[in-house]
Amino acid sequence: MHCARRKKRKVEVIIKKAIPSMIDDIVKLDESVIGSQSRECVIRHAVESGRCYIVNTGHNIAAYGIMDYNFYEKGFISLLIVDQKHRRKGFGKLLVKTFIDQCKSDKLFTSTNRSNLPMQKFLENCGFKRCGIIDELDEGDPEIIYCYNKKSAASYKPKWF
Ligand SMILES: CC(C)(COP(=O)(O)OP(=O)(O)OC[C@H]1O[C@@H](n2cnc3c(N)ncnc32)[C@H](O)[C@@H]1OP(=O)(O)O)[C@@H](O)C(=O)NCCC(=O)NCCS
Repeated sequence: MHCARRKKRKVEVIIKKAIPSMIDDIVKLDESVIGSQSRECVIRHAVESGRCYIVNTGHNIAAYGIMDYNFYEKGFISLLIVDQKHRRKGFGKLLVKTFIDQCKSDKLFTSTNRSNLPMQKFLENCGFKRCGIIDELDEGDPEIIYCYNKKSAASYKPKWF
């Protein structure tokens, strides 16, 4: 568990592994971003298998992320969602740093649509490099694959905060 006090407003920010009692709130956060509860099963399964982390501010879940090893047995961040009103506060980066620290493979992968420019900027800021592209998943909006290589990234150490 990581705990930090944000300097200006003195709000306690905590990152921790999600537990089943948090599932409803995580699903609500997800719904506020994608407009449906279609990922409830994915979220429930990730929480129950200990692969989901959340960022708490006070009593609210401000962000969540899921990592698995279903991508050629390498770490893969499959979902990363920050509440609209909590963006650009470093919460996404806090989740990514946690996944990098916990990832059992030397390389951590993730992906995003070509249209998702904020996520691309975010990943580049976190030290991820583009390493491939997959057509045919979303019509007209290819999936761009990104990799964080712990060995080569160690030399330039991206600034987290
Ligand atoms: C992409 C996302 C996860 C970023 O989370 P965040 O907590 O706002 O990001 P951070 O505050 O940690 O940002 C770290 C850095 O990434 C870059 N960045 C983040 N959001 C950005 C944006 N919208 N535009 C440009 N750069 C951005 C910046 O360099 C930022 O540093 P700065 O704020 O000091 O300039 C968030 O915008 C989000 O949840 N988007 C919707 C869901 C989504 O598309 N998820 C990915 C696919 S599952």
